[in-house]
Amino acid sequence: MIAYRSGLRPQGWPLFWLLAALVLLMSATLLAAHADPVAGVRAVIRATARSSFALFLSVFVASSLTTLVPNGLTRALLRERRYLGLAFAFSHLVHAIAIVRLGQLDPSFWPGRSALTNLPGGLGYAFIVLLSATSFHALAQRMGAQAWKRLHTAGVWVIALIFALSYFKRIPTDPLYALPFALMCAAVAVRAVGKWAQSEKRRWARQRRAPSPVSPNLEPQA
Ligand code: HEM
Repeated sequence: MIAYRSGLRPQGWPLFWLLAALVLLMSATLLAAHADPVAGVRAVIRATARSSFALFLSVFVASSLTTLVPNGLTRALLRERRYLGLAFAFSHLVHAIAIVRLGQLDPSFWPGRSALTNLPGGLGYAFIVLLSATSFHALAQRMGAQAWKRLHTAGVWVIALIFALSYFKRIPTDPLYALPFALMCAAVAVRAVGKWAQSEKRRWARQRRAPSPVSPNLEPQA
């Protein structure tokens, strides 16, 4: 059943399936548009990296944006964060499948890479798998709230760093890659300011809840 509430529509799993279908449609269109299968698969790798980036950014800044600019859209982003995150993982699954296919079509692909060049991407995939698996209730409950929070905070920062590195290293070959790199830096700034604003809000709330200090009795004692 498609759940319709205010803000972003559809919501929940229908939102995930819609985004997953769009990623598949985009990939199929790119493969069909290229006569050379290697060029087609490379286009899919680039495009899925970009769709993943857009989905990742929406998850990365959702909570901070809701604090800094509270409105229907930012609240909807926050509410749908889990499904946007899973759609990011799906998009990156297609990135991985296209990479495997490229390795089959172009025998020079894997020999042209080293363990060191595969390390950031490999680490990124390890975190994507962990974050996706623990976004399901059964595993999240087993982990405990604190461990879950630590894993998810570490994971999103590792993935953010991999995106920043992936775009930064491409700037010398195409200066336009400075744009997504700058976008990633701006998202880091938004997240940092948002988290700071959240901690200030919590501090104020604690102060307001605390009992007012008892005024010292300055009356002369009899
Ligand atoms: C071992 C794992 C990975 C491998 C082997 C790999 C491989 C590749 C390759 C070959 C390309 C370039 C395609 C082309 O231009 O022809 C690419 C692009 C890219 N990948 Fe991956 N990738 C991996 C994991 C990741 C991860 C985990 C992320 C992000 C979290 C990521 C983000 C990107 C980005 C941002 C681009 C640039 C896309 C563009 O040109 O706009 N990759 N990847």
